Amino acid sequence: MSGMRVSGGGRLHLGHYFGVLRQWVKFCETADAFFEVADLHGYTTDFADPSEIRSGRHEMVVDWLAAGVDPKRCTMFLQSAVPEIAELQLLLSMIVPTSWLERVPTYKGQIEALGSEIATYGFLGYPLMQLCDIAIVKGAFVPVGRDQSAHLEFAREVVRRFNYLYNGGQELLVEPKPTFAEVPEVPGTDGRKMSKSYDNAIYLADTADETAAKVKKMVTDPLKVRRNDPGRPEVCPVFTMWNLVADPEKTATVAAGCRSGVLGCVADKTDFAEHLNETLRPIRERRAVYAADPAQVDAILAEGTARTREIAAQTMREVKTAMKLL
Ligand code: TRP
Repeated sequence: MSGMRVSGGGRLHLGHYFGVLRQWVKFCETADAFFEVADLHGYTTDFADPSEIRSGRHEMVVDWLAAGVDPKRCTMFLQSAVPEIAELQLLLSMIVPTSWLERVPTYKGQIEALGSEIATYGFLGYPLMQLCDIAIVKGAFVPVGRDQSAHLEFAREVVRRFNYLYNGGQELLVEPKPTFAEVPEVPGTDGRKMSKSYDNAIYLADTADETAAKVKKMVTDPLKVRRNDPGRPEVCPVFTMWNLVADPEKTATVAAGCRSGVLGCVADKTDFAEHLNETLRPIRERRAVYAADPAQVDAILAEGTARTREIAAQTMREVKTAMKLL
Protein backbone atom coordinates (compact mmCIF):
# COMPACT_ATOMS: atom_id res chain seq x y z
CA MET A 1 0.00 0.00 0.00
CA SER A 2 1.20 3.47 -0.74
CA GLY A 3 -0.19 6.91 -1.38
CA MET A 4 0.59 10.44 -2.42
CA ARG A 5 -0.58 13.67 -0.92
CA VAL A 6 -2.45 15.97 -3.30
CA SER A 7 -0.81 19.39 -3.38
CA GLY A 8 -0.14 22.18 -5.83
CA GLY A 9 -2.24 20.93 -8.71
CA GLY A 10 -1.13 17.30 -8.41
CA ARG A 11 1.55 17.38 -11.13
CA LEU A 12 4.27 14.79 -10.53
CA HIS A 13 7.93 15.16 -11.48
CA LEU A 14 10.93 12.93 -12.16
CA GLY A 15 11.64 12.68 -8.42
CA HIS A 16 8.28 10.96 -7.95
CA TYR A 17 8.82 8.82 -11.02
CA PHE A 18 12.30 7.46 -10.32
CA GLY A 19 11.96 7.56 -6.53
CA VAL A 20 8.53 5.98 -6.05
CA LEU A 21 6.36 5.35 -9.12
CA ARG A 22 8.74 2.86 -10.72
CA GLN A 23 8.54 0.83 -7.49
CA TRP A 24 4.76 0.98 -7.64
CA VAL A 25 4.78 -0.41 -11.16
CA LYS A 26 6.88 -3.37 -9.96
CA PHE A 27 4.71 -3.95 -6.89
CA CYS A 28 1.67 -4.43 -9.11
CA GLU A 29 3.37 -7.45 -10.64
CA THR A 30 3.84 -9.31 -7.36
CA ALA A 31 1.37 -7.95 -4.80
CA ASP A 32 -2.28 -7.01 -4.31
CA ALA A 33 -1.33 -3.34 -4.32
CA PHE A 34 -3.40 -0.35 -3.11
CA PHE A 35 -2.53 3.21 -4.10
CA GLU A 36 -4.25 6.12 -2.44
CA VAL A 37 -4.96 9.65 -3.62
CA ALA A 38 -4.42 11.41 -0.26
CA ASP A 39 -6.64 14.44 -0.80
CA LEU A 40 -7.38 14.91 2.91
CA HIS A 41 -3.66 15.13 3.58
CA GLY A 42 -3.66 18.02 1.11
CA TYR A 43 -5.68 20.09 3.58
CA THR A 44 -2.89 19.95 6.18
CA THR A 45 -1.02 22.65 4.29
CA ASP A 46 -3.64 23.96 1.81
CA PHE A 47 -6.60 24.37 4.18
CA ALA A 48 -6.85 28.13 3.53
CA ASP A 49 -7.03 27.62 -0.23
CA PRO A 50 -8.32 24.17 -1.19
CA SER A 51 -9.27 25.27 -4.71
CA GLU A 52 -6.70 23.05 -6.43
CA ILE A 53 -7.33 19.84 -4.50
CA ARG A 54 -10.12 18.47 -6.70
CA SER A 55 -8.30 19.09 -9.98
CA GLY A 56 -5.02 17.99 -8.39
CA ARG A 57 -6.27 14.55 -7.48
CA HIS A 58 -7.35 13.96 -11.08
CA GLU A 59 -4.00 15.15 -12.49
CA MET A 60 -2.19 12.89 -10.06
CA VAL A 61 -4.03 9.77 -11.16
CA VAL A 62 -3.34 10.68 -14.80
CA ASP A 63 0.38 10.84 -13.95
CA TRP A 64 0.25 7.46 -12.16
CA LEU A 65 -1.38 5.87 -15.18
CA ALA A 66 1.10 7.61 -17.47
CA ALA A 67 3.97 6.21 -15.39
CA GLY A 68 2.70 2.72 -16.14
CA VAL A 69 0.87 1.87 -12.92
CA ASP A 70 -1.59 -0.66 -14.34
CA PRO A 71 -5.15 -0.14 -13.07
CA LYS A 72 -6.01 -3.74 -13.94
CA ARG A 73 -3.37 -5.02 -11.54
CA CYS A 74 -3.85 -2.72 -8.56
CA THR A 75 -6.48 -0.78 -6.64
CA MET A 76 -6.43 3.01 -6.82
CA PHE A 77 -8.66 4.76 -4.30
CA LEU A 78 -9.65 8.21 -3.07
CA GLN A 79 -8.95 8.87 0.60
CA SER A 80 -11.88 11.22 1.27
CA ALA A 81 -14.31 8.70 -0.25
CA VAL A 82 -13.35 6.06 2.34
CA PRO A 83 -14.80 7.56 5.56
CA GLU A 84 -13.67 4.48 7.52
CA ILE A 85 -10.18 6.01 7.43
CA ALA A 86 -11.37 9.05 9.37
CA GLU A 87 -13.29 6.85 11.78
CA LEU A 88 -10.23 4.71 12.44
CA GLN A 89 -8.18 7.85 12.99
CA LEU A 90 -10.57 9.01 15.71
CA LEU A 91 -10.46 5.66 17.49
CA LEU A 92 -6.67 5.34 17.31
CA SER A 93 -6.22 8.96 18.43
CA MET A 94 -7.41 7.79 21.87
CA ILE A 95 -4.28 5.69 22.36
CA VAL A 96 -1.64 7.91 20.72
CA PRO A 97 0.31 10.09 23.18
CA THR A 98 0.63 13.60 21.74
CA SER A 99 4.36 13.43 22.57
CA TRP A 100 4.78 10.68 19.95
CA LEU A 101 3.36 13.00 17.30
CA GLU A 102 5.31 16.04 18.46
CA ARG A 103 8.61 14.23 18.15
CA VAL A 104 8.10 13.09 14.53
CA PRO A 105 10.84 15.14 12.81
CA THR A 106 8.70 16.27 9.86
CA TYR A 107 6.35 18.06 12.28
CA LYS A 108 8.90 20.61 13.53
CA GLY A 109 10.75 20.61 10.21
CA GLN A 110 7.70 21.53 8.14
CA ILE A 111 6.66 24.24 10.59
CA GLU A 112 10.13 25.75 10.30
CA ALA A 113 9.91 25.56 6.51
CA LEU A 114 6.29 26.67 6.01
CA GLY A 115 5.51 28.83 9.05
CA SER A 116 3.62 28.34 12.32
CA GLU A 117 0.18 28.81 10.66
CA ILE A 118 0.31 25.18 9.54
CA ALA A 119 0.71 23.90 13.11
CA THR A 120 -2.90 22.73 13.35
CA TYR A 121 -4.39 19.76 15.19
CA GLY A 122 -4.84 18.07 11.79
CA PHE A 123 -1.25 18.65 10.80
CA LEU A 124 -0.01 17.23 14.10
CA GLY A 125 -2.08 14.15 13.27
CA TYR A 126 -0.65 13.80 9.75
CA PRO A 127 1.32 10.59 10.50
CA LEU A 128 -1.66 9.07 12.31
CA MET A 129 -3.91 9.70 9.30
CA GLN A 130 -1.20 8.14 7.13
CA LEU A 131 -1.17 5.05 9.36
CA CYS A 132 -4.96 4.79 9.05
CA ASP A 133 -4.65 4.91 5.25
CA ILE A 134 -2.37 1.90 5.45
CA ALA A 135 -4.08 0.06 8.30
CA ILE A 136 -7.56 0.24 6.78
CA VAL A 137 -6.42 -2.23 4.06
CA LYS A 138 -3.87 -3.92 6.35
CA GLY A 139 -0.95 -2.83 4.17
CA ALA A 140 2.24 -4.73 5.05
CA PHE A 141 4.77 -3.16 2.67
CA VAL A 142 4.83 0.53 1.88
CA PRO A 143 6.92 1.71 -1.09
CA VAL A 144 7.80 5.34 -0.30
CA GLY A 145 10.65 7.83 -0.44
CA ARG A 146 13.23 7.88 2.36
CA ASP A 147 11.68 11.06 3.78
CA GLN A 148 8.81 8.86 5.00
CA SER A 149 10.79 6.55 7.29
CA ALA A 150 9.89 8.46 10.50
CA HIS A 151 6.18 8.21 9.62
CA LEU A 152 6.44 4.45 9.19
CA GLU A 153 8.39 4.12 12.45
CA PHE A 154 5.61 6.00 14.23
CA ALA A 155 3.00 3.84 12.50
CA ARG A 156 4.58 0.61 13.74
CA GLU A 157 4.64 1.90 17.33
CA VAL A 158 0.93 2.77 17.22
CA VAL A 159 0.05 -0.63 15.73
CA ARG A 160 2.03 -2.43 18.45
CA ARG A 161 0.24 -0.39 21.11
CA PHE A 162 -3.17 -1.15 19.60
CA ASN A 163 -2.49 -4.88 19.32
CA TYR A 164 -1.11 -4.94 22.88
CA LEU A 165 -4.03 -3.02 24.43
CA TYR A 166 -6.93 -4.61 22.56
CA ASN A 167 -5.84 -7.91 21.05
CA GLY A 168 -3.65 -9.58 23.65
CA GLY A 169 -0.54 -8.69 21.66
CA GLN A 170 -1.75 -10.75 18.67
CA GLU A 171 -1.67 -9.17 15.24
CA LEU A 172 -4.97 -7.55 14.30
CA LEU A 173 -3.58 -4.38 12.73
CA VAL A 174 -0.44 -5.03 10.66
CA GLU A 175 2.94 -3.34 11.30
CA PRO A 176 3.77 -1.64 7.98
CA LYS A 177 7.33 -1.87 6.66
CA PRO A 178 8.71 0.77 4.27
CA THR A 179 10.48 -0.30 1.09
CA PHE A 180 12.82 2.20 -0.56
CA ALA A 181 13.87 2.50 -4.19
CA GLU A 182 17.44 1.50 -5.04
CA VAL A 183 18.15 4.80 -6.75
CA PRO A 184 20.00 7.95 -5.74
CA GLU A 185 17.90 10.93 -4.70
CA VAL A 186 16.82 12.66 -7.91
CA PRO A 187 18.41 16.12 -8.23
CA GLY A 188 16.53 19.08 -9.65
CA THR A 189 17.87 21.40 -12.33
CA ASP A 190 19.67 23.48 -9.66
CA GLY A 191 21.31 20.43 -8.03
CA ARG A 192 19.15 20.44 -4.89
CA LYS A 193 16.62 17.66 -4.33
CA MET A 194 13.96 17.84 -7.06
CA SER A 195 10.93 19.51 -5.54
CA LYS A 196 8.02 21.60 -6.73
CA SER A 197 8.72 24.14 -3.98
CA TYR A 198 12.29 24.73 -5.23
CA ASP A 199 11.05 25.41 -8.77
CA ASN A 200 13.68 22.98 -10.10
CA ALA A 201 11.47 20.14 -11.30
CA ILE A 202 10.95 18.42 -14.63
CA TYR A 203 7.33 17.26 -14.77
CA LEU A 204 5.88 14.13 -16.35
CA ALA A 205 3.49 16.51 -18.11
CA ASP A 206 6.31 18.57 -19.65
CA THR A 207 6.79 18.24 -23.41
CA ALA A 208 10.02 16.97 -24.94
CA ASP A 209 10.99 20.55 -25.84
CA GLU A 210 10.27 21.86 -22.34
CA THR A 211 12.32 19.01 -20.92
CA ALA A 212 15.27 19.72 -23.22
CA ALA A 213 15.14 23.43 -22.30
CA LYS A 214 15.21 22.60 -18.59
CA VAL A 215 18.11 20.18 -19.06
CA LYS A 216 20.03 22.88 -20.93
CA LYS A 217 19.79 25.13 -17.86
CA MET A 218 20.92 22.46 -15.39
CA VAL A 219 23.90 23.21 -13.15
CA THR A 220 26.98 21.01 -13.59
CA ASP A 221 30.39 20.80 -11.87
CA PRO A 222 31.08 24.48 -10.96
CA LEU A 223 34.83 23.96 -11.47
CA LYS A 224 34.35 22.81 -15.07
CA VAL A 225 34.16 26.22 -16.70
CA ARG A 226 35.58 25.60 -20.18
CA ARG A 227 34.81 22.66 -22.42
CA ASN A 228 38.25 21.09 -22.02
CA ASP A 229 38.46 21.50 -18.23
CA PRO A 230 38.41 18.10 -16.55
CA GLY A 231 35.09 17.61 -14.72
CA ARG A 232 33.89 15.64 -11.68
CA PRO A 233 30.86 13.53 -12.54
CA GLU A 234 30.37 12.68 -8.85
CA VAL A 235 29.32 16.28 -8.08
CA CYS A 236 27.32 16.83 -11.29
CA PRO A 237 23.50 16.56 -11.15
CA VAL A 238 23.34 15.77 -14.87
CA PHE A 239 25.55 12.77 -14.23
CA THR A 240 23.38 11.62 -11.29
CA MET A 241 20.45 11.70 -13.71
CA TRP A 242 22.39 9.80 -16.37
CA ASN A 243 22.48 6.87 -13.94
CA LEU A 244 18.68 6.85 -13.94
CA VAL A 245 18.21 6.61 -17.70
CA ALA A 246 21.27 4.83 -19.15
CA ASP A 247 23.06 1.50 -18.78
CA PRO A 248 26.41 1.25 -16.91
CA GLU A 249 28.39 1.10 -20.15
CA LYS A 250 26.97 4.42 -21.33
CA THR A 251 27.43 6.12 -17.96
CA ALA A 252 31.05 4.92 -17.84
CA THR A 253 31.68 6.51 -21.24
CA VAL A 254 30.09 9.78 -20.11
CA ALA A 255 32.12 9.80 -16.87
CA ALA A 256 35.40 9.12 -18.70
CA GLY A 257 34.71 11.84 -21.29
CA CYS A 258 33.87 14.36 -18.54
CA ARG A 259 36.95 13.55 -16.44
CA SER A 260 39.33 13.79 -19.36
CA GLY A 261 37.83 17.05 -20.58
CA VAL A 262 36.95 15.66 -24.01
CA LEU A 263 33.22 15.90 -23.29
CA GLY A 264 31.90 19.40 -22.67
CA CYS A 265 28.78 20.13 -20.61
CA VAL A 266 26.77 21.50 -23.53
CA ALA A 267 27.27 18.39 -25.66
CA ASP A 268 26.65 16.17 -22.65
CA LYS A 269 23.35 17.88 -21.88
CA THR A 270 22.17 17.61 -25.48
CA ASP A 271 22.90 13.88 -25.44
CA PHE A 272 21.32 13.47 -22.01
CA ALA A 273 18.14 15.35 -22.99
CA GLU A 274 17.72 12.95 -25.92
CA HIS A 275 18.11 9.91 -23.67
CA LEU A 276 15.73 11.33 -21.08
CA ASN A 277 13.11 12.15 -23.70
CA GLU A 278 13.44 8.62 -25.05
CA THR A 279 12.81 7.22 -21.54
CA LEU A 280 9.80 9.51 -21.14
CA ARG A 281 8.28 8.81 -24.57
CA PRO A 282 6.03 5.90 -23.53
CA ILE A 283 4.97 7.89 -20.46
CA ARG A 284 3.95 10.86 -22.60
CA GLU A 285 2.06 8.59 -24.98
CA ARG A 286 0.05 7.00 -22.16
CA ARG A 287 -0.48 10.40 -20.56
CA ALA A 288 -2.05 11.78 -23.73
CA VAL A 289 -4.51 8.86 -23.88
CA TYR A 290 -5.71 9.26 -20.28
CA ALA A 291 -5.69 13.07 -20.34
CA ALA A 292 -8.10 12.88 -23.29
CA ASP A 293 -10.50 10.58 -21.41
CA PRO A 294 -11.28 11.98 -17.93
CA ALA A 295 -14.35 9.73 -17.58
CA GLN A 296 -12.15 6.65 -17.78
CA VAL A 297 -9.84 8.03 -15.09
CA ASP A 298 -12.83 8.77 -12.83
CA ALA A 299 -14.16 5.24 -13.38
CA ILE A 300 -10.81 3.66 -12.43
CA LEU A 301 -10.75 5.61 -9.19
CA ALA A 302 -14.42 4.94 -8.39
CA GLU A 303 -14.02 1.20 -8.91
CA GLY A 304 -10.92 1.04 -6.72
CA THR A 305 -12.60 3.11 -4.02
CA ALA A 306 -15.60 0.77 -3.93
CA ARG A 307 -13.31 -2.25 -3.48
CA THR A 308 -11.34 -0.45 -0.75
CA ARG A 309 -14.52 0.40 1.15
CA GLU A 310 -15.51 -3.25 1.39
CA ILE A 311 -12.16 -4.12 2.94
CA ALA A 312 -12.30 -1.02 5.15
CA ALA A 313 -15.71 -2.00 6.53
CA GLN A 314 -14.35 -5.40 7.53
CA THR A 315 -11.30 -3.84 9.22
CA MET A 316 -13.56 -1.47 11.17
CA ARG A 317 -15.74 -4.34 12.39
CA GLU A 318 -12.62 -6.06 13.72
CA VAL A 319 -11.25 -2.89 15.31
CA LYS A 320 -14.56 -2.00 16.96
CA THR A 321 -15.00 -5.50 18.27
CA ALA A 322 -11.49 -5.47 19.75
CA MET A 323 -12.18 -2.06 21.35
CA LYS A 324 -15.49 -3.34 22.79
CA LEU A 325 -17.59 -0.93 20.75
CA LEU A 326 -19.37 -3.84 19.13
N1 TRP B 1 2.93 11.15 3.54
C1 TRP B 1 3.12 10.67 2.19
C2 TRP B 1 4.03 11.67 1.45
O1 TRP B 1 4.10 12.82 1.79
C3 TRP B 1 1.82 10.51 1.44
C4 TRP B 1 0.93 9.47 2.04
C5 TRP B 1 -0.31 9.69 2.58
C6 TRP B 1 1.19 8.08 2.11
N2 TRP B 1 -0.82 8.50 2.99
C7 TRP B 1 0.06 7.51 2.73
C8 TRP B 1 2.28 7.28 1.75
C9 TRP B 1 0.00 6.13 3.00
C10 TRP B 1 2.22 5.93 2.00
C11 TRP B 1 1.10 5.36 2.63
O2 TRP B 1 4.64 11.31 0.49
